[in-house]
Amino acid sequence: MAPEVEFDTPQQIRWAIIGPGRAGARFAQGLHAVEAASLRAIWGRNPDRAESFARKFAVPQTSPTLEQLLAADIDAIYVATHPDSHAEICLQALAAGKHVLCEKPATLNQSQLTQVLAAARLHDRLFMEAMKPPFFPLYRRLRGHLQSDPIGPVGFVRAGHADATLPPDYPLQFASLGGGGIMGIGPYEAFLALDWLGELKRVQTMGRVNVAGVDAFALFQTEHEHGMAQLHTGLDLSSRGDALLSAPRGYVIIHANWWNPARATIHYLDGRHVELHEPFVAGGFNYETTHFCQLLRDGLRESPVIPHSLSLSMARLLETVRTTLGVRFPGE
Ligand SMILES: NC(=O)c1ccc[n+]([C@@H]2O[C@H](COP(=O)([O-])OP(=O)(O)OC[C@H]3O[C@@H](n4cnc5c(N)ncnc54)[C@H](OP(=O)(O)O)[C@@H]3O)[C@@H](O)[C@H]2O)c1
Repeated sequence: MAPEVEFDTPQQIRWAIIGPGRAGARFAQGLHAVEAASLRAIWGRNPDRAESFARKFAVPQTSPTLEQLLAADIDAIYVATHPDSHAEICLQALAAGKHVLCEKPATLNQSQLTQVLAAARLHDRLFMEAMKPPFFPLYRRLRGHLQSDPIGPVGFVRAGHADATLPPDYPLQFASLGGGGIMGIGPYEAFLALDWLGELKRVQTMGRVNVAGVDAFALFQTEHEHGMAQLHTGLDLSSRGDALLSAPRGYVIIHANWWNPARATIHYLDGRHVELHEPFVAGGFNYETTHFCQLLRDGLRESPVIPHSLSLSMARLLETVRTTLGVRFPGE
């Protein structure tokens, strides 16, 4: 008789989304490409928007209140509201015993993030900032390629993106929502610099604040343990969203938009060019979500890829740049 074959079925992770907007939609799209994970519920402060989101993505439950959502049989919450409400919602979700994946920037400032991380420890829940680039296939392949065919240690990072096409009602246009270019694309740039260059030592900032009280353009140079970065963000100029990683024996261009990385070129000093091409599927949020689900199954409370200390360093960098320009959010 043939031996019985047992298949390990991974534990199902039941998700809910808070905030049925653009990021919420991309998360829902990505979840279809995540093994053993399902979207069970949605809550938004506008019931019509939540209902139409639920219809579009076949979400079985729309909760009338946040409290009801947090009382439901859900393992993990994806927080996709604007940054002004991240801290409060994360604190409530963690206190209700839910694990939390929170959109970037995790909170408005370091003080809020410290409270959220303390709550995650207190309630013994997994908390991760949704910093997606390192989970993309291209980024992982680039890391691997540079290990087997190195260019030497990266000592300079240049990245930036300015987008003058955002409509006037876009959330980043409002200080009350935690807006501005620094809070929009800035978290990705802070991540890139910290990921390749190590801990932050010093920041120099120049920029302009608009009549709405948010940064319209910001240029910041950062010094790290292992090198320096030159970064920019903007809401009233346009620029190309690629990134440069510079090292002694060559350099890398991660092509636009580098925070959704799909293509990179490695230029070696010996004249070789290596093209890496790794298209992403399902919108790309699926990779970080897969990682988060695996952390949960492994009983971990912190990601080794986006540890709490990295989120704190990103928050410190962004807050330093923002407050140097005089951008303050309500309550600060
Ligand atoms: N990782 C990425 O690629 C990516 C891409 C885009 C955005 N993001 C991040 O995702 C977050 C949301 O941005 P978005 O562009 O998705 O914004 P959005 O399209 O305006 O969606 C935000 C949603 O959250 C809801 N909301 C806002 N404040 C709330 C509160 N206090 N309580 C309950 N619901 C609330 C909004 O409700 P209303 O309909 O009532 O306004 C809306 O449904 C930001 O942190 C942003 O940085 C990340």
